Amino acid sequence: MSASIIDGKAIAADIRETIRGEVSERVAAGRAAPGLAVVLVGDNAASSVYVRMKRRDCAEVGFISQDYDLPVQTTQDELLALIDRLNDSPETHGILVQLPLPDHIDEQAVIERIDPAKDVDGFHPQNVGRLVLRLPGLRSCTPHGVMTLLHRTGVALSGAHAVVIGQSNIVGRPMALELLNARCTVTICHSRTRDLRAEVERADILVAAVGRTAFIPGDWIKPGATVIDVGINRQPDGSLVGDVDYAGAARRAAWITPVPGGVGPLTRATLLENTLQAARAIAD
Ligand code: GUN
Repeated sequence: MSASIIDGKAIAADIRETIRGEVSERVAAGRAAPGLAVVLVGDNAASSVYVRMKRRDCAEVGFISQDYDLPVQTTQDELLALIDRLNDSPETHGILVQLPLPDHIDEQAVIERIDPAKDVDGFHPQNVGRLVLRLPGLRSCTPHGVMTLLHRTGVALSGAHAVVIGQSNIVGRPMALELLNARCTVTICHSRTRDLRAEVERADILVAAVGRTAFIPGDWIKPGATVIDVGINRQPDGSLVGDVDYAGAARRAAWITPVPGGVGPLTRATLLENTLQAARAIAD
């Protein structure tokens, strides 16, 4: 078997096109274009690249990108004061503070200061709690983007055995909840999992979010499985690879996401969807 590729780039482009249409209708009707505040603290190289791409996406769909590039010495109080201002600003519909933050800033305090109605990352405990309870809310971008990929690909979810590798707040935990809400039987694996191979071999749907190059050998993949690789690992030659041995997995899987061009574009497209959702909900 040779897997079909899940083309995240094409699916994300389609989503951006739909959003662009809604934004132009909104503006033509006299409403404000959605405004997304993207806050970067310090000069982490990877974060700078991600933030640049997010701002470019905003421009492409007609959002107003509000750029805040703060020096690494910014204090927690200064950052919290900026968030307070953005929470109160009618021009700001969504607030994104790029993580990781410098060590002297308490990330959780920052996340919890963002108005949950503007929390387009879906990281605020109120939005996470709403996901747990299957209530509508703003959903964490990468896991929700993965669900969009699965739905658009037509992968059968109800009753499928989904295995998530990784238990981070940003990906693993909300991913498991998204899959559970879609009626998968879900296993979450982490560094203390006793027999990772046996768990992976059972997966109809495998989501790998570990951050280690070729952590999952291709011959662990169940024939016909769907493989979603969230990992983005930079190699010494500058190229990017995922957490799964792609060539080996592609020989056994039915569907597989490439790295790059799989999950990453959906994370960004979901951020735009969330910002539009937040803008729709806020009167102007
Ligand atoms: N850093 C890595 N991924 C993310 C993300 O999805 N949102 C934010 N704010 N920071 C990140």
